[in-house]
Amino acid sequence: MSSKQRILILFAHPSPHRSEVNRPMFVASKSLAHVTAVDLYREYPTFCIDIDREQQRLREHDVLIFHFPLYWYSTPSLLKEWQDLVLEYGFAYGHEGKALAGKQFMCALSASGPEKAYHADGYNHFTIRELLQPLEQMADFVGMTYLPPFTLFGARSAVEDKRLSRHIAQWTALLNGLGDRAWHGHNWDDVITINAWVTQHMEERI
Ligand SMILES: Cc1cc2nc3c(=O)[nH]c(=O)nc-3n(C[C@H](O)[C@H](O)[C@H](O)COP(=O)(O)O)c2cc1C
Repeated sequence: MSSKQRILILFAHPSPHRSEVNRPMFVASKSLAHVTAVDLYREYPTFCIDIDREQQRLREHDVLIFHFPLYWYSTPSLLKEWQDLVLEYGFAYGHEGKALAGKQFMCALSASGPEKAYHADGYNHFTIRELLQPLEQMADFVGMTYLPPFTLFGARSAVEDKRLSRHIAQWTALLNGLGDRAWHGHNWDDVITINAWVTQHMEERI
């Protein structure tokens, strides 16, 4: 239990040059030794995904993170293509498909809508965790442990409101906490986002 868990971040942003929040998060994650941070749109601009390489990457890591700006209540399309191609029968599921069993899965995302809009009474009607249920079920189906999403709401005003540097500090603390198995075995059933937990339990690291 002494070595850190290895984390694979699949960053999917179709226009990173215009990104205010996810690009700096991606840059911060690249500096951590136990993290492999992959820029999917840069590697696969024509969506021609190297399935063997992606499956090998998955085998070599303990935690998988999809990192993306929320697009139409879901991931940008390359991440969906990645799921469709990489999570094959016999690899991720099926009788012999156990490659991902026991690993952890989490989404790290930003949304322009405010947190209060992501609520039964808000204009988006659903929480972010509810909207991401296909990914939660994907994780369950392939035997991965699902962690609630690390989410930045109101993303388009984060820089102006000076919320970004704290968010990136929390992101780094979260990646270190995951590396140290800080929350192994925790019950996340009723937790909508992991942000409050990061603040509560990782405050000394922020
Ligand atoms: C095609 C498209 C779809 C979007 N869909 C949503 C959405 O469903 N909900 C939301 O809150 N924001 C949505 N947004 C806003 C982005 O999530 C927001 O611009 C992004 O999180 C900001 O991150 P960045 O600075 O890294 O680009 C959308 C933006 C685009 C371009």
